[in-house]
Amino acid sequence: MVNTKFLTFNNGEKMPVIGIGTWQASDEEIETAIDAALEAGYRHIDTAPVYGNEKAIGRVLKRWLDAGKVKREELFIVTKLPPISNRPHEVEPTIKKSLEDLQLDYVDLYLVHTPFTININEDGSFKLDKDGLMEVDVTTDHAATWVAMEALVEKGLTKSIGVSNFSKDQVARLLKNCKIRPANNQIEHHVYLQQRDLVDFCKSENVTVTAYSPLGSKGIAKFNADKGIVRDLPDLMDIPEVKEIAATHGKTPAQVLLRWIIDTGVSAIPKSTNPARLKQNLNLFDFELTAEEVAKLSSLDKNIRICDFAFFHGVERHPEFTFKNQYTS
Ligand code: A2P
Repeated sequence: MVNTKFLTFNNGEKMPVIGIGTWQASDEEIETAIDAALEAGYRHIDTAPVYGNEKAIGRVLKRWLDAGKVKREELFIVTKLPPISNRPHEVEPTIKKSLEDLQLDYVDLYLVHTPFTININEDGSFKLDKDGLMEVDVTTDHAATWVAMEALVEKGLTKSIGVSNFSKDQVARLLKNCKIRPANNQIEHHVYLQQRDLVDFCKSENVTVTAYSPLGSKGIAKFNADKGIVRDLPDLMDIPEVKEIAATHGKTPAQVLLRWIIDTGVSAIPKSTNPARLKQNLNLFDFELTAEEVAKLSSLDKNIRICDFAFFHGVERHPEFTFKNQYTS
């Protein structure tokens, strides 16, 4: 297998450092992509109910498991408690629905997807206030939700639990109140949004970090546009320093961006539905960045958050929403 590097959790579980991200892919695209990813050697798959593709992923996993092409214990499957279900009593039914859709008995890692909670109507649509903004549920209680998350481990529904999009402060609060420590914090992390303080804090507390949008989430532009948001976003694969380092090693800018993440002790979940690019994103272990190159890439930080949740119009009014101060582009 190509993908042989792992991060070890505080509970001893191991997560392959590269996984496939699956946000913004149709059912058809994702079935083909997961098939191609498994063929290429990916064993870490990141999904969420919010992405709407757990059933499609489940179909592929079942085919592979039934055919004996992969063993369950070789897979590392991550899914998440959605923002609309971020309440203690919804934790268990929500993971059970994900497990049913994924056709699995357990996941490897279950994450609280966001620190905030959003209200929905009975038909599943977002509840909007009179100004057309999303209604937020300000009763979010991380410590209480975490108790329900811990119960999932005790019941064998997930091997490990963690969080996503949590700030240093939010992780610190959770650490003070937990029986089972979070194993992972999945955050936006790339050369232009390095969040060093948060990453270093998580590492010092034995909370591993996974980088989402490691390649700059090119697809978000269309997603934003569909929601009426037009933002000029940087193209990380076009940064001169990244291109120069890539040329030196005969690798692509994407491979340099990913290798830098791994070399700084973080895991990454690049999304691709293209078989050639999927392979490329896993093929990171036949070259090494020099210390100078790592330092050069580390000096590129611009604090530009690409996934700023602006598409959830009104969510910034939630008391646990922490992204507004970092929005600089
Ligand atoms: P595609 O699915 O067509 O490959 P991120 O993981 O940061 O969200 O970035 C995903 C975006 O980057 C997708 O638009 C994906 O398109 C594209 N992408 C993924 N891998 C590569 C690569 N190796 N080179 C160029 N673009 C890539």
